[in-house]
Amino acid sequence: MISLRIITEDNFIGAFNLKLAPGQERFVSHPVRSLAQAYVYRNQCQPFGIYEDETMVGYVMVIYDYDIPEYDIWHMMIDESKQGRGYGSAALDRVLEYIGEKPFGPSDRVTLTCNTDNQQALNMYKRKGFKETGETDGDEVELSMSLRLER
Ligand SMILES: CC(C)(COP(=O)(O)OP(=O)(O)OC[C@H]1O[C@@H](n2cnc3c(N)ncnc32)[C@H](O)[C@@H]1OP(=O)(O)O)[C@@H](O)C(=O)NCCC(=O)NCCS
Repeated sequence: MISLRIITEDNFIGAFNLKLAPGQERFVSHPVRSLAQAYVYRNQCQPFGIYEDETMVGYVMVIYDYDIPEYDIWHMMIDESKQGRGYGSAALDRVLEYIGEKPFGPSDRVTLTCNTDNQQALNMYKRKGFKETGETDGDEVELSMSLRLER
């Protein structure tokens, strides 16, 4: 059973202790860095621990871009010891359900970026309905979906 829990004073150390596999640091910011960004963007974002029952197995942040407007998914990761078991895919479903509640404002658009070498993540996002927008930033491609059209 995979669920999202808001990062609080009770669990932020657990997020600090999550580990990426060697080489994955170039795909995603570690929660230590992500939570620092969450402070800067605190009026428009929500960081979560990804839990399997009572155990934190990953981390993800949802941020609302008021300018477009759209919801962005940042820094999603599953601890290296727990990858490849379906947790990332299940967590993404929970994230899309959360965004569907429009916690920060209106928008059905959900956007993220992904490194072109990160085939596992690209597969996961595309199976959920994300499509490449054609926008790129260095090695990162932008993918987007509409909750209204796709779900
Ligand atoms: C990307 C990540 C979040 C996926 O989470 P996960 O729990 O490992 O992935 P899942 O087990 O849920 O599998 C997701 C999909 O990837 C595919 N997949 C799993 N392992 C794979 C592998 N080694 N190679 C290619 N595809 C793979 C599965 O087919 C699955 O698709 P499906 O749900 O349609 O069957 C996780 O691997 C991770 O944290 N990676 C490092 C950080 C990162 O790259 N984050 C993404 C930034 S954009």
